[in-house]
Amino acid sequence: MPQNDPFSSNNFDSWAKSYDRDVQEQTRFPFNGYERVLETILKLAEPQAGHAVLDLGTGTGNLAIRFAGKDCKLWCTDFSEVMLEKAREKLPQAHFIVADLRAEWPPELSRSFDRIISAYVFHHFELDAKVNLCRELVTKHLAPNGKLIIADISFPDSSTMSGFAKSVGDLWEDEFYWLADESMDALKNAGMNVTYRQISPCAGIYLMKASNLS
Ligand SMILES: C[S@@+](CC[C@H](N)C(=O)[O-])C[C@H]1O[C@@H](n2cnc3c(N)ncnc32)[C@H](O)[C@@H]1O
Repeated sequence: MPQNDPFSSNNFDSWAKSYDRDVQEQTRFPFNGYERVLETILKLAEPQAGHAVLDLGTGTGNLAIRFAGKDCKLWCTDFSEVMLEKAREKLPQAHFIVADLRAEWPPELSRSFDRIISAYVFHHFELDAKVNLCRELVTKHLAPNGKLIIADISFPDSSTMSGFAKSVGDLWEDEFYWLADESMDALKNAGMNVTYRQISPCAGIYLMKASNLS
């Protein structure tokens, strides 16, 4: 990782204590529509009891807990141990793996999953890294008929993002937010079977299905 990594686990360790309070600010950037986003992931996933579900960047477990409620088997991963401690309190039955998604894939996750889900994590990665990770997940870790569902801060295109940034003033922070037009092109060019849905002014969901990619 680069020195002075702006996206280090330390930043998230210190956020863990207030995180669940912060996401309740659902009319304020970046969590506009947070509950709706998580509920839509659950709906799109169509989870069944016994499904093996991998949640990437679990944080305090607010997405994973919805799948636990559907009797899925959960693997939760995050690079912040402090965030995962919070999740562990809510999900005593889940498997927890501390790992950085930018590093080597952890051996504990070398298997396939019926659903791979993630919320509010991939905007820390540049577009190429996002696409490469999605491709790896679909080709190496998704079961036949599996679904990869990535929800995140995402805008239809750069001009919509600029307008939105102005409207939120000082709350805005520049990160690698998804732009659906260029992201969909990049994902499709990488051979992915993908659809996109805008959920709130600043959040969207990318749904990818297992395909014949290899
Ligand atoms: C904004 S929180 C989202 C948490 C949860 N998914 C949710 O929707 O509430 C982002 C989470 O991603 C984790 N994260 C960020 N970059 C990561 C990386 N490179 N590898 C693993 N986890 C990462 C952070 O530690 C944090 O828990």
